Amino acid sequence: MNLAVFASHNGSALDVIYTAIEKGELQFNLKLVISNNSDAKVLKKAKNYNIKHTVINAKLFESPDLVIFELLKRENIACVFLAGYMKKLSLLITRNFKVINSHPALLPKFGGNGMYGRFVHEAVIKNKEKVSGVTIHEVNENYDEGKIILQKSLEIHPNETVEKLEERIKELEKSTILEGLQQCLN
Ligand code: GRF
Repeated sequence: MNLAVFASHNGSALDVIYTAIEKGELQFNLKLVISNNSDAKVLKKAKNYNIKHTVINAKLFESPDLVIFELLKRENIACVFLAGYMKKLSLLITRNFKVINSHPALLPKFGGNGMYGRFVHEAVIKNKEKVSGVTIHEVNENYDEGKIILQKSLEIHPNETVEKLEERIKELEKSTILEGLQQCLN
């Protein structure tokens, strides 16, 4: 099954997915990386991994989502994984491809517009939550509202800092992403 990864910055999930495929732990053909950000580190990673990669954004194209749609079709992509992709995808994409996202909290709480990166962990700690975690979910036309595929949780330590929680969630995310993608294969 052909997989594409979209990311706006580091795209740290690309490393996790690539390594799992190399080890034969995940049966995807990692065929394409798309970023909206020409400075994204994920593009350098894709180059190093010898994965086809491209930048698609409104500065370069009048209808970015149409360009994305056509490229996904041309590359016969079945599944798109969002590894920190900050642009909302149109129905054209979400209705024609299985799009999966990893969110660094236990949706439906702490999701939606503006809830990304450290803002999520700040809100969780400010809300004195006892647990947080990772949600792998299908992506529809609304932020963080698609069908939940898998969730994994962890206990928040007393007086835990935002940085520490973010670090532990990113670690938990590695296995959660792989299990979530595996479920999409099955
Ligand atoms: C991930 O941690 C994920 O939770 C969210 O975006 C983050 C991307 O982080 N979807 P990075 O750019 O891979 O470091």
